[in-house]
Amino acid sequence: AATLREAASATGRFMGTAIADGRLNDPTYTNIASTEFSSVTAENVMKWESIQPNRDQYNFAGADRLMDFAAANGQQVWGHTLVWHSQLPGWVSNGGFGAEELDAIVQDHIGTVVGEYAGEIAYWDVVNEAFNEDGSLRQSVFLNTLGEGYIADAFRYADAADPSAKLCINDYNTEHTNAKSDAMYQLVSGLLAQGVPIDCVGFQMHLILDQYSASDIQSNLQRFADLGLEVVVTELDVRMDVPADQAKLDRQATQYADVVGACVAVDGCTGVTIWGFGDADSWVPDTFPGQGAALPWDDNYQPKPAYNGILEGF
Ligand code: XIL
Repeated sequence: AATLREAASATGRFMGTAIADGRLNDPTYTNIASTEFSSVTAENVMKWESIQPNRDQYNFAGADRLMDFAAANGQQVWGHTLVWHSQLPGWVSNGGFGAEELDAIVQDHIGTVVGEYAGEIAYWDVVNEAFNEDGSLRQSVFLNTLGEGYIADAFRYADAADPSAKLCINDYNTEHTNAKSDAMYQLVSGLLAQGVPIDCVGFQMHLILDQYSASDIQSNLQRFADLGLEVVVTELDVRMDVPADQAKLDRQATQYADVVGACVAVDGCTGVTIWGFGDADSWVPDTFPGQGAALPWDDNYQPKPAYNGILEGF
């Protein structure tokens, strides 16, 4: 295949990337983004703090730029994200709202944002990062005020606003079999049993070099797919201690190939999205000091061994 997008398509899957709104004016960036990927996720512009920074004040400008980019390039859009404890504006997290009012705020947010793009967004991350590492539900204004029913309600509100969008729950450190993925499995099993409109489980897969088991990832994805849900790799990157060297970059290529291969081995795994494509734009160095080089293109947008790793994985 000549591109990642073609390689994924040959297996019936999509290949996605997060898009940094601030980079859409650079032709080097947009050339890769438009040709190599069939799915795009907003890295930040659809998050609550961006899209409803103040109560009842919605700002769709950045999201509209992403929609226009995707339409121009024949790409699907992955909506990210509706209910999340992070990048949540203070008026929500510190508003001191009671349950009835917060529920109305969540319903308005989801209804307005999902409704704005109804019929145009293929998938939504409805709830993001709801779990702690031990499998308990994460403390947040949503859990603390509304109880755990906030999760099912968020899916119901999203389904009401766009019955055609596929609705997902998304998290990190859930790619392997562990306490957190077991809790996710229990949660989504319960949602399905209650008839909650959930279609998919997103596995972020912010991975660390050399720390993975491809066979365990595959069997973990398979158990979710066996519930009848789509499973998707939503935010893949493979970070390493910097500086990178050839040996690390080669192992990184193998790791990308193995993770993509784990998805391809599972019928219900329908796509892979990487969290940006060029190391210059990656969130990793800002978030994990001393680590970087996590993506398939380098700081100068030249393909790294990981690029061929992804091609081989498909
Ligand atoms: C990150 C973005 O990449 C950064 O630009 C931003 O400053 C913080 O958020 N899990 C998620 C993503 O679901 O939304 C996060 O994105 C990375 C971790």
